[in-house]
Amino acid sequence: MVDDRTPDPRTELTAKIRTDVPHSARIWNYWMGGKDNYQVDRAAGAAFAEVYPDIVTMAKQSRQFLIRVVRFLAGEAGMRQFLDIGTGLPTMQNTHEVAQAIAPESRIVYVDNDPVVLAHARALLHNTTPEGVTTYVDADFHDPESITSDARNVLNFRQPIAVMFMGVLGHVADFDEMRSIVARVMAAVPSGSYLALYEGTDTSLAYIEAIAKYAKTGAVPYFLRSPQQIGRCFAGLEMVDPGLVPITQWRPDITKADKTKADKTKPIDAYGAVARKPCRIV
Ligand SMILES: C[S@@+](CC[C@H](N)C(=O)[O-])C[C@H]1O[C@@H](n2cnc3c(N)ncnc32)[C@H](O)[C@@H]1O
Repeated sequence: MVDDRTPDPRTELTAKIRTDVPHSARIWNYWMGGKDNYQVDRAAGAAFAEVYPDIVTMAKQSRQFLIRVVRFLAGEAGMRQFLDIGTGLPTMQNTHEVAQAIAPESRIVYVDNDPVVLAHARALLHNTTPEGVTTYVDADFHDPESITSDARNVLNFRQPIAVMFMGVLGHVADFDEMRSIVARVMAAVPSGSYLALYEGTDTSLAYIEAIAKYAKTGAVPYFLRSPQQIGRCFAGLEMVDPGLVPITQWRPDITKADKTKADKTKPIDAYGAVARKPCRIV
């Protein structure tokens, strides 16, 4: 018998989902070609793309960047723990799938504060291997200490952790707060950990104009940064080659015979990098 005094978590979650204002995760899903979005998201996404058509390429290229970064982290860098903050809606080749394909024992903690992301994450973000762990934390990145505290239930903070902020910190209005969020998470992880981060940049007038219009839709606004500002988020860390570049140019998957090289590496208004937390000098 159902105890009707106990709230059903599914009903609570559904009640939190707003379908009258566009949401970043759902618009991003729309641009990536996904189906987990509402009319209000498609309308806002289409209006944005009318002013700045490159946003669709950027959304798709951002996933390719994430895949290349996670392959590097799980492969060459030997990471086995991942803290992916601002996960977004599950789509193709999510962090745990890419990492566990290389290192089946990888442990992944996803973090987001969107109720639709939470509902989909619970349903879809499952381990791809028996040895691995994949979990989800419903939290706001404005409170990084609560994220690291929850993540400790799954990740060992004495071992290196790959921290990922992929296209999410533009939702922080104040640049100093953005830097502080990154710095506080990186302070909690040990030497040998990595930071992977990319953000949209103020390098195109059309992008700036589209962002200004987007701010009037009622959605949580997104703030573009300069490439220099993004670089400052990596202060104190050792950049991995090729450093901070447009995300299309970060270790692109190209062969010498690849005729599409020029297209694949065309600069885009989103810069990203991967960097390692060095050993403390005593
Ligand atoms: C543009 S999407 C990027 C998704 C994903 N990282 C990717 O690269 O595909 C931005 C994500 O940040 C999340 N987000 C926005 N504000 C947040 C906050 N204050 N705390 C946690 N997540 C947030 C949104 O819900 C959304 O899923």
